[in-house]
Amino acid sequence: MPAGESFYITTPIFYVNDVPHIGHAYTEVASDVLARWHRQRGDDTWLLTGTDEHGQKILRTATSHDVTPKEWADKLVEESWIPLLETVNIRNDDFIRTTDARHETGVQLFLQKLYDDGLIYQGEFEGFYCVGCEEYKQASDLVDGTGPFEGQQVCAIHSKPVELLKESNYFFRMSDFEQPLLDLYESQPDFIQPESVRNEIVQFVKQGLRDLSISRASFDWGIKVPWDDKHVVYVWFDALLNYVTAVGYGVDDENFDRRWPATHIVGKDIARFHAVIWPAMLMAAGLPVPKHVFGHGWLLVGGEKMSKSKLTGIAPQQITETFGVDAFRYYFMRAITFGQDGNFSWEDISARYQAELANGFGNLASRIIAMITRYFDGTVPVIGDLTEADLAIRETELRVTADADAAIDRFAINEAVSTVWELVDALNGYITEQEPWVLAKNEATRDRLATVLGTALRGLGTLTVLLSPFIPDAAHKLWESIGQGELTSQNIDRAAEWSAAPAVVPLPSTLFPRIEQPEVATA
Ligand code: MSP
Repeated sequence: MPAGESFYITTPIFYVNDVPHIGHAYTEVASDVLARWHRQRGDDTWLLTGTDEHGQKILRTATSHDVTPKEWADKLVEESWIPLLETVNIRNDDFIRTTDARHETGVQLFLQKLYDDGLIYQGEFEGFYCVGCEEYKQASDLVDGTGPFEGQQVCAIHSKPVELLKESNYFFRMSDFEQPLLDLYESQPDFIQPESVRNEIVQFVKQGLRDLSISRASFDWGIKVPWDDKHVVYVWFDALLNYVTAVGYGVDDENFDRRWPATHIVGKDIARFHAVIWPAMLMAAGLPVPKHVFGHGWLLVGGEKMSKSKLTGIAPQQITETFGVDAFRYYFMRAITFGQDGNFSWEDISARYQAELANGFGNLASRIIAMITRYFDGTVPVIGDLTEADLAIRETELRVTADADAAIDRFAINEAVSTVWELVDALNGYITEQEPWVLAKNEATRDRLATVLGTALRGLGTLTVLLSPFIPDAAHKLWESIGQGELTSQNIDRAAEWSAAPAVVPLPSTLFPRIEQPEVATA
């Protein structure tokens, strides 16, 4: 993607029935890393996140706590979901709540248009509903229950029984879009990623699409259907529209045209809503479909999908309080192939923290800065004649920059980090081989010492720019010691062109301090 293009990226909007766990934080961090990278590449970037507040699930939770659903949502948004953004250092440009007036207006406009165009009709429906998913289930989505639900059919995702609902509702003519959707998947093969999610969705649509019930009359926690206020809009129909209402659908055409279409990052469990219902809705309204829908894998704990309801949930703070925010971000982006499931373990994060962040990167940075301070009083050494080893470092800087940039375009976030890490390893190897401490002992090798430390510093600056989307705080701290200008205005796709300050300043503290046997890590 050439620099300067619009890059509008969204996270799913989160249900406010419960507090965030690390699965939610994972989606946020991945989207934030992509947004930060694009922003630093000069793309016209916009990161949207927010909360999904209507529907039966929230209503039931609020009722069980003896408060109104709006009171419940306000409390959770303020005490849990907005703080999550700070906990994992998300630089979002907007935060939408489905109870915002701007959203409600947009949803009603959209719905009215589809109604006026004959794409919505009234009908009867009977089916099995999972409140956890907020979705009618087909027989193939159900499995045999176990434990207290033995003998019953339960939702495969939530392991809880489904409810038989019979309603007179409004329906969206989704079946009209079966062929247009298949044509879309065919003509834009990268519309749904990764391949495994794409295949599943193509198979699903090929089996035939039913019209979608898009209103509910049995409860009133939702946006009113504009032509019939006895009905509220189905929560998914309402929620998906956040992606357009947040950028001015129907009220600010200029902003809408500037941002839309978006790239959606979602968990694979909700990819179907985003890659089937959502593009069908957009086609029906004559709007462009999203650029991409990327369905990432699940975080597993002890081999099971982590979730609060199954009591395997881990709060992000449990990790950030021990290892810090940067380590949280780095770990999940590096250790898990984006697009596949990945197991979380305290042992693994502990080991990677020590080996990669503290010993591999943190040590490298402090050694280079300490040696320049010691041997050159902090003045940036002047690079002289280059040997093959120096040139190899230069080439590695350029190669990893290009490869990581290409990996980001393919959503291969973990590959981008491991590519950048080749530079960490190369610089560590270079310093071990060049032995600047030996060169420093002899006045005759002073020029060579300057070249070695100057080359190492150049590499370190390039690393700082490339790592800033992943570990923003450590990168910022390091930049304060070595760089000139704002770190976030350094072009990431030309990272090696960074400008050093005339003199380096010692780091105020170790970037990744040693963690003495964290209690949680051995728990
Ligand atoms: N409200 C809907 C999304 C509407 S988007 C128009 C929703 N909310 S959610 O809070 O249940 O989930 C939000 C996201 O968190 C989903 O993408 C889901 O896949 C993700 N995760 C929930 N548990 C997860 C893991 N254990 N691992 C990784 N992601 C997980 O669905």
